[in-house]
Amino acid sequence: MRQGSAPTPCFAAAKASEGRSAELRLGSHRVSSVTEAPAYDQLGRGYGDVRRPDPRIAARIEAALGDARTVLNVGAGTGSYEPVDRDVTAVEPSAEMIAQRPQGAAPVIQASAEDLPFPDDSFDAAMAVLTVHHWADLGAGLREVRRVTRQRILIVAFDPGALANLWITRDYFPGMLELKRQSPVTSTELATMLSTARSIPIPVPRDCTDHFFAALWARPEMLFDDAVVRPMWVWQSISETARREGRRRLAADLKSGAWDESYGYLREKQDLDVGLRLVVSELG
Ligand SMILES: C[S@@+](CC[C@H](N)C(=O)[O-])C[C@H]1O[C@@H](n2cnc3c(N)ncnc32)[C@H](O)[C@@H]1O
Repeated sequence: MRQGSAPTPCFAAAKASEGRSAELRLGSHRVSSVTEAPAYDQLGRGYGDVRRPDPRIAARIEAALGDARTVLNVGAGTGSYEPVDRDVTAVEPSAEMIAQRPQGAAPVIQASAEDLPFPDDSFDAAMAVLTVHHWADLGAGLREVRRVTRQRILIVAFDPGALANLWITRDYFPGMLELKRQSPVTSTELATMLSTARSIPIPVPRDCTDHFFAALWARPEMLFDDAVVRPMWVWQSISETARREGRRRLAADLKSGAWDESYGYLREKQDLDVGLRLVVSELG
């Protein structure tokens, strides 16, 4: 798995679709079918610095890819979790995220899941990590991923139901939970949409290097680190007032010892099921 971070855009070398979407060259990556400014052009600034792929999560993805030789990574972002020993093609709508892909990362095409610029059955496997909740049309995106994939599809996503028990959302920032509840992305729904899929819990290590918000389950102090929380999508999803109020209460509870009284035991645990799921669909 790739761990580097030099911010260099990569060359696209993947097969273009025939007649599916117009393409043009921009800088050093290929552009295809992105119609509006992607949210991660703003949100993604500094993403690669704080969202380092966690090697333990990476190992699970690597194992689930099985014998796939050609792999499509959809919503690839800065290249986290892309295997280095397979023929990988990345798809990512945000130029900001593409610019942070390390030198030597897989070739990338600027496009969206809902309109993939590849012929049918182009890849052995497709992977989509922590991205499906962003897709404008989840059904269309999954249909496209299915169309271009021959053997297996891997999706890493949160089950919002499981997030309900996490102290971050339940006790301090409940607005995040509401938003997750409204989301159509539960691992069960995904498994149903992908017909033969199975959903496997991924325990999140206490010192997870990929700082998505639930990864801070034993590190409340990091919720005060602006560099860490700024690229978090859920953080942007609640009002400034809700953020300030939640942080104020958390700071007070840390200072008084109330947080440690309730949740200090978490600081001793190695990992926790916070609702992260690996959904694997073996295609017939
Ligand atoms: C939280 S980041 C995850 C990036 C990477 N997979 C990772 O694990 O670090 C979500 C990514 O999904 C991308 N994204 C948003 N909408 C998308 C869409 N419709 N199709 C494909 N990717 C999309 C964003 O631009 C962003 O790079």
